[in-house]
Amino acid sequence: MKDKILENLIEKEVKRQKETINLIASENFVSKDVLEALGSVLTNKYSEGYPEKRYYAGNEIIDQIEMLAQERALKAFKLKAKNWSVNVQPYSGSPANMAVYYALLKPGEKIMGMGLPFGGHLTHGWKVNFSGRFYKTIQYGVQKNGYLDYGEIRKLAKKERPKIIVAGATAYSRIIDFKKFSAIAKEVNAYLMVDMAHIAGLVAAGVHPSPFPYADVVTTTTHKTLRGPRGAMIFSNRESRIAKHYKIDITSAIDKAVFPGLQGGPHNNQTAAIAQCLFEASQPSFKKYAEQIVKNAKTLAKKLREYDFQLISDGTDNHLILINLADLDVSGRQAQSQLEKAGIVVNKNTVPYDNRSPFDPSGIRLGTPVITSRGMKEKEVEKIAELIYRVLIKKENPTIINREVKKICNKFPI
Ligand SMILES: Cc1ncc(COP(=O)(O)O)c(C=O)c1O
Repeated sequence: MKDKILENLIEKEVKRQKETINLIASENFVSKDVLEALGSVLTNKYSEGYPEKRYYAGNEIIDQIEMLAQERALKAFKLKAKNWSVNVQPYSGSPANMAVYYALLKPGEKIMGMGLPFGGHLTHGWKVNFSGRFYKTIQYGVQKNGYLDYGEIRKLAKKERPKIIVAGATAYSRIIDFKKFSAIAKEVNAYLMVDMAHIAGLVAAGVHPSPFPYADVVTTTTHKTLRGPRGAMIFSNRESRIAKHYKIDITSAIDKAVFPGLQGGPHNNQTAAIAQCLFEASQPSFKKYAEQIVKNAKTLAKKLREYDFQLISDGTDNHLILINLADLDVSGRQAQSQLEKAGIVVNKNTVPYDNRSPFDPSGIRLGTPVITSRGMKEKEVEKIAELIYRVLIKKENPTIINREVKKICNKFPI
């Protein structure tokens, strides 16, 4: 029997998603097939363990689904099973990162990652997160110009000698030089862990350099640019020099960390949806989509600059843009709220060297994955930049802007 209250709430959320321009850089709209896999009867099955090594009976089909997801994950990133293995069971990005630390570190050992205020993720060693509480953490930042400073990162690594160096970010709009990170990690005998959550779809499509030639471990969520269900994967490099140095079988250490270390039964509906999204990522249309994400972001950056907005690093190479509002009479929180009234959904974000608090920072973060999935291109993006300008600088009435937003949305159904 259907619960009308819930049905009504879901319908309201569908309407919200349809009628707003979503510029949240970490979100996406998945295909109907991904939704169907997520909503399938696979959710009924327990399958603790791994393919052909389960603790419950009845897993013959589940094994095939998990192996299919693994095979497609390797293929999507052009990896060979003899060099890389992949675990598709982590419930989400944070548990995936936790599993890597749990596998490779003893409590109290050192992680070096990008600080949250500079664009790193909570799980890269931020003090309120498990990663900052159970391990010693060293945080690097970006320069005043918004770019990573590999010389400074190297100096810090040599001084602190972390056991894991994390490369990857939540709010960094430039290409990350994995080769430079790898040279630093080698110099100090650290594992290089790349968290490519934000850029995974761009990497799969070849529009961002791949971390795989350089990393010991790569983690990713599956729900951002990769456009799959909420979930995550951990890739481990069987050839990892540093794992050999520590006499660790990296694949088995990570598999054991995920289960039984940190999780119980995998979410099989989620695994199937990951297999579906990886199937979609192997289609030629996915490459076009990823290229368009970057084109849209670059167009948005160019237009915003023309409207005199100050952008961190002055632009973007990927799917996201950070606007620094410090010189304007509007804070990040106010900007988020004004834009939401107009039907444009963004998130407030700290900017490097922010003088304000994380609850009301000086910036907003914009991303183009969702609008690109809806089929919007440069023309619509230019219009979106104009609407942002009219809300935040011209202070036009957001309700009037909202009518224009709805018109655009109607042309691009979800
Ligand atoms: C770089 C990065 N890693 C990990 C995560 C965590 O993913 P989840 O929210 O699925 O735990 C995020 C989420 O925003 C992220 O941006």
